[in-house]
Amino acid sequence: MTAMRLAESDLFASVALIDVVPGLAAGLALDMWHGAGLYGFSTTIEGSDDPAALGGAEYIVITAGRPRQPGMNRTDLTVVNAAILETTCRAIRIHAPEATVVVVTNPLEEMTHLAARYTGFSDERVIGMAGVLDSARFCSLVGLTGRAKPREVRALALGSHGPEMVIPLSQAFVGDKPIESVLDRETLQGIVERTRESGGEVVKLLQKGSAYFSPAESVVTMVRAMVADRGEVLPVCVRTRAAYGLRDARVGLPVRLGRHGVKEIVNLPLRSDEQVALHDAAARIAARIDELGTVR
Ligand code: LAC
Repeated sequence: MTAMRLAESDLFASVALIDVVPGLAAGLALDMWHGAGLYGFSTTIEGSDDPAALGGAEYIVITAGRPRQPGMNRTDLTVVNAAILETTCRAIRIHAPEATVVVVTNPLEEMTHLAARYTGFSDERVIGMAGVLDSARFCSLVGLTGRAKPREVRALALGSHGPEMVIPLSQAFVGDKPIESVLDRETLQGIVERTRESGGEVVKLLQKGSAYFSPAESVVTMVRAMVADRGEVLPVCVRTRAAYGLRDARVGLPVRLGRHGVKEIVNLPLRSDEQVALHDAAARIAARIDELGTVR
């Protein structure tokens, strides 16, 4: 889906799909390319099981890894996906040393951290996709109340892509109105809770694999923002360093994106309860990242 939607935006000379399963990426790519005339794009799509196909890529989206099965937490994937990520990042270092990397593999914060470590790229060039998806899920669920269309809702999901997700309602709007003046507290709390569980809700329904339409569109939104280089601010998983006074970890924060990743972390006037929740998220993520020392 990500490859297809990136090709459809016609911003790139080519998109390459890579998968370890022989023929899988090549078959999918050929199928997508067959529709080029119908879709109206000229970006070529190629597929390969050879990592050399990464050659010279400007942007790389890492989705490699196992998805959750029903009943699994994202952190249940840490060990198996860390190994997959290491191999993937080694190939990226060799074949696309100038690339900007968007990590999608779960558990998102830990894998974003490892991708930076394994590639050796600067923190600005290694970012994680979660907040755009979680924000979109929140907006879509507000849409289910019938009080607004999803595209009229603005919100930023910060913190982690999991239990420590923080959606500061002080920063959420329906059109120009604060969302808290449109929906009551209980409804909003229910929507936040459901947003946090939305990935798992899809996993449970599918019984095999995890969500792909909305995650793909979220990645594409981030890549397009970087290519456009208009200083768009999106919720992105980044290295915090000292931002928001948080523990140094990988946390979802509002980020101004530029051509090569993070331009700056944007400070929002969060309420004190929202700041506390964000600090708590950073501390828990930092603890999980510390445990990665034992993974490799
Ligand atoms: C989800 C996966 C992409 O939330 O983490 O659906």
